[in-house]
Amino acid sequence: MTSLLQCPVCREPLLATATGYQCAAMHSFDAARQGYVNLVLAHNKHSKEPGDDPEMILSRRRFLDQGYYNRVSDGINEAISSVFSGLALDSDCSVLDAGCGEGFYLARLKEALARGSEAHRRMECHGVDVSKFAVRQATQRDRTMAWFVASINDLPYLDASLDIVLSVFSPASIPEFARILKAGGSLVFVSPGPRHLNGLREIIYPVTREHAAPAIIEKAQELFAPATVSRITYPLALASNQVIMDLLAMTPYYWNIDRETKGKVAVLERLELDVDVEIRVFKKKSGDGELITNR
Ligand SMILES: C[S@@+](CC[C@H](N)C(=O)[O-])C[C@H]1O[C@@H](n2cnc3c(N)ncnc32)[C@H](O)[C@@H]1O
Ligand SMILES: [Zn+2]
Repeated sequence: MTSLLQCPVCREPLLATATGYQCAAMHSFDAARQGYVNLVLAHNKHSKEPGDDPEMILSRRRFLDQGYYNRVSDGINEAISSVFSGLALDSDCSVLDAGCGEGFYLARLKEALARGSEAHRRMECHGVDVSKFAVRQATQRDRTMAWFVASINDLPYLDASLDIVLSVFSPASIPEFARILKAGGSLVFVSPGPRHLNGLREIIYPVTREHAAPAIIEKAQELFAPATVSRITYPLALASNQVIMDLLAMTPYYWNIDRETKGKVAVLERLELDVDVEIRVFKKKSGDGELITNR
């Protein structure tokens, strides 16, 4: 495969070297000892340690590694595999998990694709997150994948270089995703469904409202056409305080609720709740707004 990466300084292609990446203008980015590459320029860093902190990342890793969201991950893998099966038989495939966190979904995707009907393809899997701690953890999951510290608002990819962008419970930049996707490429966007985490939310809020439809549906209209929506719903029973607190630390509620409400969750030893997740596939329109269906 040719390089997909773009130099964050001069926007020329970035090529792999023995120690990291370099562009023709000699801007170079060394791989950290753990195997990832930091492509955030110091002057673009809006806080000292942007993105999720180590506590949130370790909680997410402990929770996800117990399999509670495997069915969500399986649903994502099915959606992506059906996008790949629509590509020309002999074509390579590239996928970027934008806001990959500690790499759970991308690592499982790679395994599923290697086992499934798309195993004949040459795949390139990339994960990007603005949190250095998250990317460090992700690198531990699979050192053969390309992991980068970078922001979704300034992605280090060339224009029209990728087949799929995956975004799971993460901030999304529609213009950046459209820029880096090939014509007809797909955005797979995963967000909470109406009843997601009911059970926990009922403890936190006096009145529980359904999650609204994600803003992306409207925001994406100009650049993307909606293709498919699938919904994964199932009940979950959590049977220890540690796992309940890990789930809480994965959610925005952890930071938004007051000490008294956190105290109510902190005494729980058992919690029954709903998992309700929506997986939307959007197709990038061509420059003049047309949807490309034949690739
Ligand atoms: C709720 S977590 C989801 C992580 C992962 N996709 C998952 O579901 O396990 C949101 C992630 O987005 C990352 N993030 C926040 N702002 C970002 C940005 N501007 N660019 C890239 N990643 C960002 C955070 O560091 C965090 O890892
Ligand atoms: Zn450069």
